[in-house]
Amino acid sequence: MTAPLPLIIDCDPGIDDAVMLMMALGSPRFDVRAITTVAGNVPLRLTSRNARMMCQLMDRPDIPVFAGCPRPLLRAPVTAEDFHGESGIYGIDVFEPAAPLQPGHAAPELVRLVKAAPEKSITLVITGPMTNIACALVMAPEIAGHIRELVIMGGADAEGGNITPFAEFNIFADPHAAAIVLETGLPATILSLDASHQVRATSERIARIAALPGPRAAMMASLLMAANNLETRARPGTKVPMHDPSTIAWLLAPEIFETQPSRVTVNVRPGKEFGRTRVKPSKKGPHRWVTKADADAFFAQIEDILKAAP
Ligand code: BDR
Ligand code: CA
Repeated sequence: MTAPLPLIIDCDPGIDDAVMLMMALGSPRFDVRAITTVAGNVPLRLTSRNARMMCQLMDRPDIPVFAGCPRPLLRAPVTAEDFHGESGIYGIDVFEPAAPLQPGHAAPELVRLVKAAPEKSITLVITGPMTNIACALVMAPEIAGHIRELVIMGGADAEGGNITPFAEFNIFADPHAAAIVLETGLPATILSLDASHQVRATSERIARIAALPGPRAAMMASLLMAANNLETRARPGTKVPMHDPSTIAWLLAPEIFETQPSRVTVNVRPGKEFGRTRVKPSKKGPHRWVTKADADAFFAQIEDILKAAP
């Protein structure tokens, strides 16, 4: 068996961030070195508590959680309680986790942890606004040399936006940070709405998960049902897309996706296209824009994790 892939996860839980964390923490394929949290779906205090809740529920209270930026770089803060509930994690009864937050701010901690990894070895999974990652790259650009790949959930092209007609939430919530990160030219796989809208938690798929033994399957099914209830309230007739979990599915099974080598930029000019991502095909990258996802194979990955560690 190959060594587990070292990861740092930067997130804003968020129901789908919670599903992503269940996948990452439940799979033996990953060595999650730290979780850093950012303001996004809900304010920072809640995203930080929710990340620690997920560590406790997944029996990984040892994973350090560092709170990062409480607001975006330039724009006014935006949140998404309509899609995640007031707690950020509708579908789970909230509690105060036993493990406290780590002392220190996520940005310098990201610098320290990334620098401690050998060259091109560490993968950053990013499923919220990119404020913390942009700050770390501005504070210490030399950390780029230690990063193997960024795996980002964000952006939209063919699908159009989900918070404006053009923009996807994570990019819209801090477009300046996203621009900083993408302009570094670091290799990045980008799972946008173009990919996540192809993978939806249908009732049949949730029922298959709910039928699996063990508390984790029940928790996953409850999260997906809660996400679907909120999605249906906002967009009648639609099932919730698997946004953030697509990052981990990509790392587990890249063969179930198709990608287009590209250069992705972000529109930071005020106006109706604020926060829109532009995808320009480019043989040399540095980005990989995911264009297709096999939804059944994606859900099979989730089931495999839950079967192996119920
Ligand atoms: C992204 O926005 C958030 O609401 C979700 O957690 C996901 O990261 C999807 O646009
Ligand atoms: Ca998220």
